[in-house]
Amino acid sequence: MKKVSIIYWSNGGNVEVLANAITEGAKEAGAEVLIKHVADAKISDITEADSVALGSPSMDNNRIEQKEMEPFVNEFKLLPNGNKKLVLFGSYGWDNGAFMQEWSNRMKDYDFDVIGELAVKESPDQDELDLAKEFGRKLAE
Ligand SMILES: Cc1cc2nc3c(=O)[nH]c(=O)nc-3n(C[C@H](O)[C@H](O)[C@H](O)COP(=O)(O)O)c2cc1C
Repeated sequence: MKKVSIIYWSNGGNVEVLANAITEGAKEAGAEVLIKHVADAKISDITEADSVALGSPSMDNNRIEQKEMEPFVNEFKLLPNGNKKLVLFGSYGWDNGAFMQEWSNRMKDYDFDVIGELAVKESPDQDELDLAKEFGRKLAE
């Protein structure tokens, strides 16, 4: 059974809804899922998982959330991430997903295998939720 960790930051709930959809897909595909707000997450939640999803809104000038998600993500800069499968997901108000492109490039530099990116405008619609579930299933493979 694959261990999938889903770590996210959300205040208004839009990113949380995506996290829940990814969880649903991964569980349906038979994975053991750990889902946490980043405030409660540990580095080992990532290092001990077979595959990972990270979620954030675009905040503070079109960047991932800076107080909790940014320092967490930064921890992986110098770790041997072994090309681990990673899905990035999030929500934006007006940057049209620019924050996601930057985040994705960064995680590839940190030696993650980014298998999916999903940036939605404010709250996800049904197609976007279906895609989030599909990403969850892929993480469980
Ligand atoms: C304090 C604050 C700062 C934000 N900054 C940005 C931003 O720089 N760029 C952007 O595209 N959207 C920005 N947004 C919009 C959020 O990314 C968007 O509302 C998102 O859906 C919030 O996710 P959440 O509901 O999971 O917290 C900001 C929202 C808030 C409340």
